[in-house]
Amino acid sequence: MEGNKFFFLYAFYLTFIMMIGSAIDACEYPKQVDNHLEKLFVFGDSFVDTGNLGKIGPLTRSWSFPYGITFPRWPSGRFSDGRVLTDYIASCMRIRSPIPYKYRKLGSKLLPYGMNFAVGGSGVFDTENLQKNLTTQIDVFEDQIRNSIFTQYDLHFSIALVAISGNDYEYYRASGRPLNEISRFMDYLISQLKVDLRRIHDLGVRKVVVTNMHPLGCTPFITRVSNYSTCNTAYNSAVQQHNQKLEAAVKELGKHTRRRSATFMSLDLYNPFQSIIQHGTRNLKNILKPCCQGKTNGTNCGERDDKGVKLYEVCSDPEEHFYWDSVHPTQAAWAAVFQAAEPSLCKIFM
Ligand SMILES: *[C@@H]1O[C@H](CO)[C@@H](O)[C@H](O)[C@H]1NC(C)=O
Ligand SMILES: *[C@@H]1O[C@H](CO)[C@@H](O)[C@H](O)[C@H]1NC(C)=O
Ligand SMILES: *[C@@H]1O[C@H](CO)[C@@H](O)[C@H](O)[C@H]1NC(C)=O
Repeated sequence: MEGNKFFFLYAFYLTFIMMIGSAIDACEYPKQVDNHLEKLFVFGDSFVDTGNLGKIGPLTRSWSFPYGITFPRWPSGRFSDGRVLTDYIASCMRIRSPIPYKYRKLGSKLLPYGMNFAVGGSGVFDTENLQKNLTTQIDVFEDQIRNSIFTQYDLHFSIALVAISGNDYEYYRASGRPLNEISRFMDYLISQLKVDLRRIHDLGVRKVVVTNMHPLGCTPFITRVSNYSTCNTAYNSAVQQHNQKLEAAVKELGKHTRRRSATFMSLDLYNPFQSIIQHGTRNLKNILKPCCQGKTNGTNCGERDDKGVKLYEVCSDPEEHFYWDSVHPTQAAWAAVFQAAEPSLCKIFM
């Protein structure tokens, strides 16, 4: 999945619309004309958002330098130095990365590839980030169907990707709710997620894939207290508990569908993340320390003060880092995840 030289050509696109267009053209492959799934509908958070998050507000760093420096070489609303999970899934499907909902009118030529409703900072429930929660994202999807932007025929040849990467738990933690009740909250979250996944399927989408949770205890905002030396095992065992409950929910959903198999599936991120974090790869040498971070505890990658002075430091070798900022993987990390898990990971989407 190394295509940087190729994508360098995009630098010649000059107008704003072309910038948007190219930013979402993560991977271009010849279109297949057989019975494959053709459209990708994406829901969830910053692991899959490719530009829906607004440019104004508290969480807009994905629209600031140095986000996007690797691809498309300017900030594109992705929480990474380059591509995110959505882009790699689209390339598995041999389609272009679907248009972010926010740009649906600017990029109508991308409608054949589906639509991305995900918003950075969101969760199954409302988070303090006040982004569209998963329910509301599906409402918007339903509106598109009602307005005949997508037909039942389209939906039959489509797949949904739902990424829930931890904002609900971060909100739970930050709001000071008791940690010994996390298990109850988990059940509550999984049961709402089940309702949401079933609803996407009931709208007509043939296959619904939900990510399991990555090892949250290894993310830099957690490991910073240990000087990025060790993952937090308490967090990771809670994550494993979440993943077990999710797996059971996905199985349960499958039982009640008429179609034989593989209508609901989970996409394992935990194990490929964990394996790379433990062993590294030939290219990824910096595992726990993020490439881009705030200079002090209270500041973040991409932040500047009122005078425009940088409040962050960015490394010169994002291709050697697993984590880009305090939460999100680099493009190189996503590429390694796909390499570690291929072909099983890609197969789900074909
Ligand atoms: C999602 O957001 C909508 C609109 O703000 C709200 O009415 C609804 O209760 C929320 N759903 C969940 C599950 O939190
Ligand atoms: C943190 O790690 C860096 C590099 O690994 C080292 O230079 C620094 O002294 C460490 N700081 C503390 C407080 O341990
Ligand atoms: C940052 O936070 C850590 C732990 O929360 C604390 O030990 C450290 O002193 C803080 N550093 C600064 C510069 O405030």
